[in-house]
Amino acid sequence: MSKCLICENNFKPFVDFGNMPIANAFAKKVVSKDNYTFRMKVGFCENCYMVQLIEQPDREKMFHENYAFFSSTSNYMKEHFKSLANSIAKFQGLNKDSFVVEIGCNDGILLENFVFDGIPCLGIEPSENVARVAKSKGIQVISDFFDKSIVEDVLSSYKRADVIISANVMCHIPYIHSIFDGVKALLKEDGIFVFEDPYLGEVIDKTSFDQIYDEHVFLFSALSVSTLANMHELELINVEHQITHGGSMRYTLAHKGIKKVSENVSNLIIKEKKIGLDKRHSYEGFAKDVDKIKCDLILVLKDLRDRNKKVVAYGATSKSTTVINYFGITTDLVKCIYDTTPIKHYTFSPSANIPILPYEEFRQSQPDYVLLFAWNHATEIMRKEKSYMEKDKHWITYIPKVEIH
Ligand code: SAM
Ligand code: TMP
Repeated sequence: MSKCLICENNFKPFVDFGNMPIANAFAKKVVSKDNYTFRMKVGFCENCYMVQLIEQPDREKMFHENYAFFSSTSNYMKEHFKSLANSIAKFQGLNKDSFVVEIGCNDGILLENFVFDGIPCLGIEPSENVARVAKSKGIQVISDFFDKSIVEDVLSSYKRADVIISANVMCHIPYIHSIFDGVKALLKEDGIFVFEDPYLGEVIDKTSFDQIYDEHVFLFSALSVSTLANMHELELINVEHQITHGGSMRYTLAHKGIKKVSENVSNLIIKEKKIGLDKRHSYEGFAKDVDKIKCDLILVLKDLRDRNKKVVAYGATSKSTTVINYFGITTDLVKCIYDTTPIKHYTFSPSANIPILPYEEFRQSQPDYVLLFAWNHATEIMRKEKSYMEKDKHWITYIPKVEIH
């Protein structure tokens, strides 16, 4: 039995991936198997509806000076965040007297839009290397973890925020109660707290099990977010589906009773109950569905190896760490992974030691098959590689099922 991070109820895990390394621990040299791992099991709390990791590495092991995820590697995400900034500025009527805070601003992909529009803003970002990139764009950044303990410091130098935003960060934080307390204290009376994260409904629907890795402690739904908000005198006032990261949800919260609640919220909660996101039995087939994908993909990769086909992978995503290690993918099945992120070049994938090579070498490598680990960027990537891949080359994807294109 495990204790829920939200409500302390006891629950049992519904899937166990075994021992997993840190998803973004791309190593400069081949690492031995006894490097750091943690037991990656996921459970569902029937009391507060939160799907969560049972165990998680210390935050300093994941977010630091060598953090390997740079948000601006995707042009699509740049456009996405530009449009998010514009829609928030419009909704709240932001101007030069307003104040926007972003939790986990990474390389400034979102806040640069507010800087451009002359709207005062502040990023809070513990990974120093990505924070430096944000600072180089003229963004003010506090290099620290956000939680309730730093709010007093923020308020001594700045003011309460009209908007607090966070994308793909809230789901990373096991001490989420401290975050919500901090948000409650930092947010103006009529302010909004907007965050988006991969959506539980999509993970279950598509069996996108690779959304589960060390950094993703929670898989949120409207059910769980509204419960959590209530515990902090906050209110879920809107939900908007996003196509980013394989299917995400944008949650907008406000102080309780201050803003009109959109009917999107009750509609989504009704839908979630209809598909059973509030019932334990709905999660029970998940592990079996993952294992079906595992068997099918390994069968395909072994067959290609036996037929002397060259298979490489595209996108050294955090998600790929779960796929590679849970499926037992080795260099005899996938030679290497090509990626555009400089910090990942000439490193090795966590635990499995698959070489990561610069994207510039991808086309010269003349692969027969390309396993798309960055499937969440499939539209952008397949469009970019269309003319090259047309010449007798094939993509392999595995979410929601194994397919060769
Ligand atoms: N917001 C960006 C995006 O959507 O592309 C970055 C997302 S990245 C997956 C998660 C970021 O959250 C990392 O840059 C990490 O350093 C940061 N982070 C983790 N814990 C945090 C905390 N307690 N407060 C602020 N940022 C945090
Ligand atoms: P993400 O799934 O966590 O967003 O990570 C995407 C990874 O894929 C990141 O390491 C950058 C890489 N990538 C490419 O190599 N080429 C591309 O065109 C895109 C969009 C991403």
